[in-house]
Amino acid sequence: MKMLVFGSVNIDHTYQLHHLVRAGETQPSEAYARNEGGKGFNQAIALLKAGQKVHFAGAVGEDGLFLQKRLEEMGADTAHLAVLPVPTGHALIQVDAQGQNAIILFGGANREITKEMIDRVLEDFEAGDFVLLQNEISHVDHIIRRAGEKGMQVVLNPSPISPELQHFPYQHASWLLLNEVEGEDLTGETEPDKMLSSLIGKYPDMRIVLTLGHKGAVYAHGSERISQAAFPVRAVDTTAAGDTFTGYFLGAMLEGMDVQLALKRAALAASIAVSRPGAALSVPFRDEVDGLI
Ligand code: RIB
Repeated sequence: MKMLVFGSVNIDHTYQLHHLVRAGETQPSEAYARNEGGKGFNQAIALLKAGQKVHFAGAVGEDGLFLQKRLEEMGADTAHLAVLPVPTGHALIQVDAQGQNAIILFGGANREITKEMIDRVLEDFEAGDFVLLQNEISHVDHIIRRAGEKGMQVVLNPSPISPELQHFPYQHASWLLLNEVEGEDLTGETEPDKMLSSLIGKYPDMRIVLTLGHKGAVYAHGSERISQAAFPVRAVDTTAAGDTFTGYFLGAMLEGMDVQLALKRAALAASIAVSRPGAALSVPFRDEVDGLI
């Protein structure tokens, strides 16, 4: 059983600010860092740090070869990471004194992935293999449909929200890992219970994890609900907290861990990530999470 992460790779330009910049305002930053990021990259790193084997598919430009190298150093198979003659995707990230962020994305190579490239990647995977997807590359709907038709286990993190999300073929997704903002966007509901009921009503076999920020997370499958509180920490930078949760939760599921423990590990890993600056850099290693458990 293989684990494929088909997702974005970004160069994150992170600016530490007193507060998030307002319209018309110019504000000097207190610190700047160039970080490794992208939701696909971060989630792959979280899976790798959690001890999983990962195949990574996506696209970078020549300026993103250091990100490919990092994935390889961490043990990922990058045979399906294309190097294209365009700039690597990047993100401009503002982080305020409370650790909250605001992000501008430039898709770059992430948005140059074609349906033909996708079909070639999926030829190397088969029924029962997992594919983890986010919403930062082109033709995510095509990947969901093709992977689902092949009998792969599609795990979808519909982030960030975009109008296309309304038209994704969710019936092919076995797992949906989302936050409250994405839940409201998909269902029109504002209460977590109602979001889950609405999604389960439409996709009765789907397993869902709804993350609720400092209020923790809820797992839903059929009528089953399992809750997990968040671990309180002083937030330094919330970037990639959701990615850390996703990678750690999925890693635990792949190991056959029970859902309650998987949620606990994921919440703990995410709380550690929040207490540190950066995106992929802030994801803890397995030993650290196990030690705290
Ligand atoms: O989820 C965090 C990520 O979102 C950042 O690393 C940034 O690249 C954006 O994709």
